[in-house]
Amino acid sequence: MDYTKHYIARVQKLIDQLPTESVLLLKSAEAKIRSNDTEYGYRQNSDFYYLTGLEETDLFLVIKKTSAGAESILFCKDSDTMEIQWVGPRLGVEGMKQTKQFTDVFSLDALTFKMLALLQGAKQIYFDFGASPSWHKQIMDWINTLKSKNRKGATSPDTLKDARKILHEMRLFKQPEEIVLLQKAADISCQAHIRAMQKTKPGMMEYALEAEYIHEFYAQGARSPAYTSIVGGGENACILHYVNNNKKLVDKDLVLVDAACEYQYYCADITRTFPVNGQFSAPQQAIYELVLAAQVAAINIIKPGVAFSDIQDKVLDIMVQGLLDLKILQDDKQGIIQKNLYQPFYMHNSGHWLGIDVHDTGEYKVDNQSRKLAPGMVLTVEPGLYFSSLLLKNTHLDPKWLGIGIRIEDDILVTELGHKNLTEAAPKTISDIQHLMSQ
Ligand code: GLY
Ligand code: MN
Ligand code: MN
Repeated sequence: MDYTKHYIARVQKLIDQLPTESVLLLKSAEAKIRSNDTEYGYRQNSDFYYLTGLEETDLFLVIKKTSAGAESILFCKDSDTMEIQWVGPRLGVEGMKQTKQFTDVFSLDALTFKMLALLQGAKQIYFDFGASPSWHKQIMDWINTLKSKNRKGATSPDTLKDARKILHEMRLFKQPEEIVLLQKAADISCQAHIRAMQKTKPGMMEYALEAEYIHEFYAQGARSPAYTSIVGGGENACILHYVNNNKKLVDKDLVLVDAACEYQYYCADITRTFPVNGQFSAPQQAIYELVLAAQVAAINIIKPGVAFSDIQDKVLDIMVQGLLDLKILQDDKQGIIQKNLYQPFYMHNSGHWLGIDVHDTGEYKVDNQSRKLAPGMVLTVEPGLYFSSLLLKNTHLDPKWLGIGIRIEDDILVTELGHKNLTEAAPKTISDIQHLMSQ
């Protein structure tokens, strides 16, 4: 699909929010070395991709707004013979011009000269604070060069502003064409979880199960996981960011898999927990039903106007009651919640925004109040309960709970009337999981 018109619309929406006499600067991501002289697979800077859809290195985007109008200018490189031979051709200046995405396209060779002309007269510069020290330095160098020409009449900007304040707010509200891609990432990831549940058996290595996910992602055109997959059998499920994935899956244990793909830069983020041998034991079932009840109840409150923090409150309300019923916690429910006494078993938040970044951009508080949900936002809901033997062995906890770690995570789009679960195709009720795994 050609997304050019969407990128042009995003740039225009950004321009609408810039004050006059300002210039916004963004730079493509640098290639990163993995070892010696070989690189990681290239991933474009998320903000740069959001505005341009371009995946090349050595790109500079300049958006200039004056009282006379606005222009978008791209600087890019033409390939040399060596580059064409070793890594293939770039689009180049002519190729970029043909996309008609930008007001003008120039060669990188002209960058300094043209940039000084573009910055001349601007009052403020917007750029992505913190993107990289070398990028900060480059912008300061341009400003200083302009300043040094002030006797010749040059004027330099005197205000720096964080472009991410505008861009990240835009990215929080997903447009229809973005929701299509998020749904695609979600669908592939759901199919990967189904495939994995069908393949799991005692004695399998965690990395072999991880391979089933990667297989499904790649086979369906998602060329990267959205984050390093977590495949934790038994006790490993209690380690929140367990990524070693190098132990054997043991009969009668659960396995927690937090794995999902990135499809055309859009992420899914799914966790499922299922029994290695296909059948939950009674203690596993008790904890699983509790996490699931909390997750479903929390998803069910999602609609415009609900505060982000209401989701965690709902999770806590159900989970703490369940922990009291199972006699894992004692005493007063509100006191437990207020004093965070559930934290030995549930120590993270209910979720996060999801989009081009798996932990996507957007403020969680506005005017110091938890953000109200609105149509177009996409967020995860991912409660869990973890009974780490290492951390809880010297407590009064009944040993039957030790070694159980369960998280269930779905991706939820806020709609006009309520919400849509983008990842509902991944089985999560005990009966659906056991049925699938018995086939
Ligand atoms: N997979 C990362 C997270 O759940 O936040
Ligand atoms: Mn998540
Ligand atoms: Mn996750």
